[in-house]
Amino acid sequence: MLARMAIHEILKMGDARLLRVAQPVREFDTDALHQLVADLIDTMRAAQGAGLAAPQIGVGLQVVVFGGGAPNPRYPDRPLVPRTVLVNPVVTPLGDEQEDDWEGCLSIPGLRGRVPRWRRVRYVGRDPYGDPIAREAEGFHARVVQHECDHLVGKLYPMRMRDLALLGYTDVLFPGVALEDD
Ligand code: NI
Repeated sequence: MLARMAIHEILKMGDARLLRVAQPVREFDTDALHQLVADLIDTMRAAQGAGLAAPQIGVGLQVVVFGGGAPNPRYPDRPLVPRTVLVNPVVTPLGDEQEDDWEGCLSIPGLRGRVPRWRRVRYVGRDPYGDPIAREAEGFHARVVQHECDHLVGKLYPMRMRDLALLGYTDVLFPGVALEDD
């Protein structure tokens, strides 16, 4: 099928739709699901994000996309994460180790915060055809998965922060460095 290209407006923090719990997808390999996935990928790419969740474009379904694309020249040291479309995901920590690192969010443009996340996780879910996905991830990959899946339970990264003194404007925190939101 030929999906039409559609870049959507990304909802910003303060919009109540970002705080809802998303519903599981019940039917796979449908035109509607493939179109949603295409729209999420187009919108993520256009915004140069590391990931995007369906609630961020106002769709209350458990669908996230993340990773993929060529290495970002602005992020030469950022590890590559495989382009992944994950439907109905479940994320489970592996071990009890957490680490703090900076995060941004396309729904919170211009800001960054220091967020604790599980260092290693296992995530399972389905692809848009209904085939199972099961992976283990660590570090940045694990962080992206946790951030995106949090959008499916109405959580934005500041709600995970322990110290709001470590929330700030990107251009103040990292002067002279062009950073993408994710
Ligand atoms: Ni986000």
